[in-house]
Amino acid sequence: MIVYLRNLDVLMLLYILYNFHVSRQEIDFSMASNKPIFFFFFFLLLFVSLNLQSSVSQTWIKAGYWDSSASLPISDINSALFTHLFCAFAFVNSTSYQLFINSSNEQHFSNFTSTVKLKNPSITTILSIFVGRTESTTFSLMVNETSRRKSFIESSIKTARLYGFHGLDLCGVEPRNGINMTSFGTFLDEWRAEVASESRNSGQTQLLLTMSANRLPIVNSVSYPIESTKRNLDWVYIIAYDYYVPTLDRFTGFHAALYDPLGRANTNDGIKEWLKRGFPADKLVLGLPYHGYGWMLANSADSGIDSAASGPAVTIDGSMGYKSIKSFILNYGYGVEAVYNSTYVVNFCKIGSNWINFDDVEAIKAKVSYAKVKGLLGYNAFQLSNDDNWVLSQAGKMVLSLQNISEFSENTEFLNIDLEKDFN
Ligand SMILES: *[C@@H]1O[C@H](CO)[C@@H](O)[C@H](O)[C@H]1NC(C)=O
Ligand SMILES: *[C@@H]1O[C@H](CO)[C@@H](O)[C@H](O)[C@H]1NC(C)=O
Ligand SMILES: *[C@@H]1O[C@H](CO)[C@@H](O)[C@H](O)[C@H]1NC(C)=O
Ligand SMILES: *[C@@H]1O[C@H](CO)[C@@H](O)[C@H](O)[C@H]1NC(C)=O
Ligand SMILES: *[C@@H]1O[C@H](CO)[C@@H](O)[C@H](O)[C@H]1NC(C)=O
Ligand SMILES: *[C@@H]1O[C@H](CO)[C@@H](O)[C@H](O)[C@H]1NC(C)=O
Ligand SMILES: *[C@@H]1O[C@H](CO)[C@@H](O)[C@H](O)[C@H]1NC(C)=O
Repeated sequence: MIVYLRNLDVLMLLYILYNFHVSRQEIDFSMASNKPIFFFFFFLLLFVSLNLQSSVSQTWIKAGYWDSSASLPISDINSALFTHLFCAFAFVNSTSYQLFINSSNEQHFSNFTSTVKLKNPSITTILSIFVGRTESTTFSLMVNETSRRKSFIESSIKTARLYGFHGLDLCGVEPRNGINMTSFGTFLDEWRAEVASESRNSGQTQLLLTMSANRLPIVNSVSYPIESTKRNLDWVYIIAYDYYVPTLDRFTGFHAALYDPLGRANTNDGIKEWLKRGFPADKLVLGLPYHGYGWMLANSADSGIDSAASGPAVTIDGSMGYKSIKSFILNYGYGVEAVYNSTYVVNFCKIGSNWINFDDVEAIKAKVSYAKVKGLLGYNAFQLSNDDNWVLSQAGKMVLSLQNISEFSENTEFLNIDLEKDFN
């Protein structure tokens, strides 16, 4: 971690030196004594930047969810902004325990990979299986019985290959949903073993295996099977949002704060907990919300966090896609603006009695930078149809190239947050 920061410092220093020497060269190009040192720095810089870029392009995950129940046509996905796309959702059949795709989705799912490849031939696609909430009983029954696990595992691999997906994902596995986590660990061992065996037999690259996880690795004293997860999954992405929601919490709260000085639910504390339990940073992916929540203030004079609220605002549960939030603000009229608060890394605004918090470009950039600085594997946006003309996806795509570092050095407040947090 600290090593990584030092690398950034070295890069910044090199960049400054490079600029310094370029300008010296322009002023006095004939000054031969400058040339060796200039070329030394130039090649050092080139070497470092090539290294940085190759490692970034190979390992940095820029993922997003396409949800079939939302209205975004697959052909409209700007897949060039991503390395991985999740196609959601498939389910587990409650009698056969095989994977199934709703017939109304079959055509879309079978076309998904070939369609998103048109704009990005190197895109990797993953079929996401929903096993949370209403589906968790079926899932817990599947994981705790050998023959059911076998049905699921074999059918999932067969389906992924049939439809041309490069991986499989479990979305919604929660320790609090009554799933036996020992059995779940066994299930992951068997799933990986079968994926490896299928790859040996078919000669195709192994399917990727991923899952979503709670902000915390232990919920109500039940822990994810950390060792098995680490051993068998390519990565785990943290659902780093929905911490406070207007249907449950009768006070305004930041649903996806990166930090909280007062220790309310926040992403940084969750990530630290995963790392403390021995989960490697380079297998963690940060979830990014493309949605926010609106609360109805009990007293419209209030405007801050922890203000009394009577319930959801604007929509039935208060949830709003980024695109809707932006147009809601725009249509309300002159003078309404969302504020970015870098202490929490959130955007929020008050419109009449509505209090809305969400992630705008600033919050997304700060979170992606956080993921980089912490040595995480990348980010995963949920979900694509809520983006507004790809604004957030473009912000997230940000890479810490030399140009970006020089840009950041002009915006030090933003980088300082991470630096301060790292050293305390
Ligand atoms: C689930 O599996 C059973 C038994 O194979 C089958 O009859 C049923 O149609 C399946 N349901 C769905 C929704 O695929
Ligand atoms: C399949 O999708 C349709 C339309 O979205 C829905 O009405 C139906 O309940 C779904 N079937 C299953 C088995 O989930
Ligand atoms: C699937 O792709 C085929 C060929 O590209 C196309 O003709 C068909 O309309 C697509 N179907 C859907 C549901 O997108
Ligand atoms: C499997 O899980 C179900 C539901 O949680 C439970 O009723 C059943 O006893 C479990 N079976 C085994 C073999 O653990
Ligand atoms: C979970 O399953 C294991 C066997 O895989 C069993 O020994 C254990 O008692 C189960 N735990 C619970 C809480 O049911
Ligand atoms: C963020 O909001 C908190 C609480 O209202 C406030 O104390 C803090 O100064 C704000 N931070 C910034 C950078 O505006
Ligand atoms: C980062 O730098 C790249 C060029 O290397 C540029 O395309 C991109 O827009 C920059 N991102 C930000 C957020 O400044």
